[in-house]
Amino acid sequence: MTITEAAASPARAIGEPVLEASGVTMRFGGLLAVNDVNLTVREGEIVGLIGPNGAGKTTFFNCLTGLYKPTSGQVRFAGTPLPPKPRAVVRAGMARTFQNIRLFANMTALENVMVGRYCRTSSGAITSILRGPKFRREEAATRARAQELLDFVGLGKSTEYLARNMPYGDQRRLEIARALATDPKLILLDEPTAGMNPQETKQASDLIFKIRDSGLSVVVIEHDMRFIFNLCDRVLCLVRGEALIEGTPGEVQSDPRVIEAYIGTGEDDDEDDITDAGVQDTTAADEEGKA
Ligand SMILES: Nc1ncnc2c1ncn2[C@@H]1O[C@H](COP(=O)(O)OP(=O)(O)O)[C@@H](O)[C@H]1O
Ligand SMILES: [Mg+2]
Repeated sequence: MTITEAAASPARAIGEPVLEASGVTMRFGGLLAVNDVNLTVREGEIVGLIGPNGAGKTTFFNCLTGLYKPTSGQVRFAGTPLPPKPRAVVRAGMARTFQNIRLFANMTALENVMVGRYCRTSSGAITSILRGPKFRREEAATRARAQELLDFVGLGKSTEYLARNMPYGDQRRLEIARALATDPKLILLDEPTAGMNPQETKQASDLIFKIRDSGLSVVVIEHDMRFIFNLCDRVLCLVRGEALIEGTPGEVQSDPRVIEAYIGTGEDDDEDDITDAGVQDTTAADEEGKA
């Protein structure tokens, strides 16, 4: 199914589980970052993941997307265990964005989205070097699709801008376009509105609804409670690596433990002290975590 031809041919029955995480646990040395967390995401759902800084949200995401192999527990995607390599996970139909933006700064917006597309093209190295007819055909299709996706996220006029020169909110949308270029069934967004102004945040909500309406499932981490409760069908709140509550926005919003978890930790700024830059990075406090 393509993003622009919404609901033309729903590949799966509505409501079928897309992602099933059970008993996911992640340890970093002595630190239990994620402890026995379950989550099921069904087709067409928007699921929110909230919790104070350091609660384990990004780590849980990294387990869901195959960037980390959980210390224990299982993740199933589209009915089968998660493939062992992140690239295979993308090919299976899962895409994500990062808390700290990861674009190719010196490439144009269009090129950034084209890169996302290459996991779906078939030209091998030889064809690419020789730039034969098959390569040129695929290249043209990739370019056209990338432009379509830029239009979809509202960046249709920014095609030739270098990523590094784009406003912050546009860079976040560009990352989403690149993730969509992989033709995912499920997209996971790590703090997609971090650093955005209220107008950009509203646009981000609209875009996420549009993505869902095109047939995808969405998992979104966010600090902004109003954003999450307005957007999501279901919300999971993590605190110190554990699932505190999972329910509808109404249920989670009115749970005194959730309020306490936020207020009790002085969660009044957007400061995020953890980098999610990679598996090797084991420094707890890293400036790069600030997107
Ligand atoms: N690569 C890592 N190595 C060691 N500790 C980590 C690593 N990533 C995260 N942590 C720790 O795991 C906990 C959860 O972090 P994180 O998942 O980034 O939280 P959140 O996204 O909810 O703010 C924190 O205590 C953090 O210090
Ligand atoms: Mg995080």
